[in-house]
Amino acid sequence: MRRVFVTGGTGFVGRAVVQALGAEGYAVRCLVRRGSERDLRGLGAIERVEGDVMARQSLDEGMAGCNAVIHLVGIIREHPASGVTFERVHTQGTINVLEAAATVGARRYVHMSALGTRVGAHSRYHRTKWAAEEVVRASPIPWTIFRPSIIYGRGDGFVSMLAGMIERLPVVPVIGTGRQRLQPVPVAHVAQGFVRALALDASVKHTYDVGGPEPVTMVDLLDRVAAAMGRRRPLKAHAPLGLVRAATSVLHRFPGYPLTPDQLLMLEEENTCEPGAFYETFGLVPVPLSTGLTAMLA
Ligand SMILES: NC(=O)c1ccc[n+]([C@@H]2O[C@H](COP(=O)([O-])OP(=O)(O)OC[C@H]3O[C@@H](n4cnc5c(N)ncnc54)[C@H](OP(=O)(O)O)[C@@H]3O)[C@@H](O)[C@H]2O)c1
Repeated sequence: MRRVFVTGGTGFVGRAVVQALGAEGYAVRCLVRRGSERDLRGLGAIERVEGDVMARQSLDEGMAGCNAVIHLVGIIREHPASGVTFERVHTQGTINVLEAAATVGARRYVHMSALGTRVGAHSRYHRTKWAAEEVVRASPIPWTIFRPSIIYGRGDGFVSMLAGMIERLPVVPVIGTGRQRLQPVPVAHVAQGFVRALALDASVKHTYDVGGPEPVTMVDLLDRVAAAMGRRRPLKAHAPLGLVRAATSVLHRFPGYPLTPDQLLMLEEENTCEPGAFYETFGLVPVPLSTGLTAMLA
């Protein structure tokens, strides 16, 4: 398992995974899209191959000589005009990666899914992640699946955005009541899970829900983020859900509008789990949310 092929290595989670693989002495080969090489800067000696999960040939060529695959690629926003859809990236992308992995004789496959993924999920993000999971479960290559709730750390998309709003805005907007709960988990723990799974036979054919130790509401999370930044509780303005839905259905097409209807469906749901099996299996000690946020933001 010494040479690991990583997809999505240039992303927020990917960079943490690549760093953790390097620290464990794995040789890492990253699939990199043209123009994204700079995102691997500072991560040490990594092999890079240019390609795309939607281009099967680039996967076959890129994976040659790798014994294990970590597949992290995912999108939160579609660009249908350029053929970038959840179905193509999540589901077909996973089919392509697994077929290439079988072709090169990979002996281990570790997959990034998402908490909330299930049959008949409301959002297409979750439904296509579920379809991808089904492809993984049908694969003969020994697999492990991770389903994290929101992942946080420097360079993330979500907690950093909340911190930015707290810093800039006199009043922070909250969608609906803000009482839906989520369970943020530090990116370093997610990365450790992926790396440790490679060498842990007990994790083969298992799916792990991944979350931090505490579920928090959106309102509570905003207060915790502010506290980690050394600020007072932010003032909040609750935007009625119906209004946000109507606005989002029209405005999501404009670049710069921060939400899509699909993201809104996910934000309306609870996103919590019982992560005990994850921590026990991979020998990790849960980090209290306030400690993790302070390490990230202070
Ligand atoms: N962040 C979270 O809170 C969270 C929670 C649960 C699950 N996840 C899942 O974790 C994974 C990584 O998330 P992230 O936050 O790290 O996202 P991210 O920062 O947006 O990274 C996405 C990665 O996927 C790559 N990518 C996208 N389309 C591709 C394609 N067609 N071919 C090859 N590479 C492609 C991107 O490459 P470029 O650099 O070239 O764009 C980037 O490396 C995703 O599957 C996501 O669904 C994330």
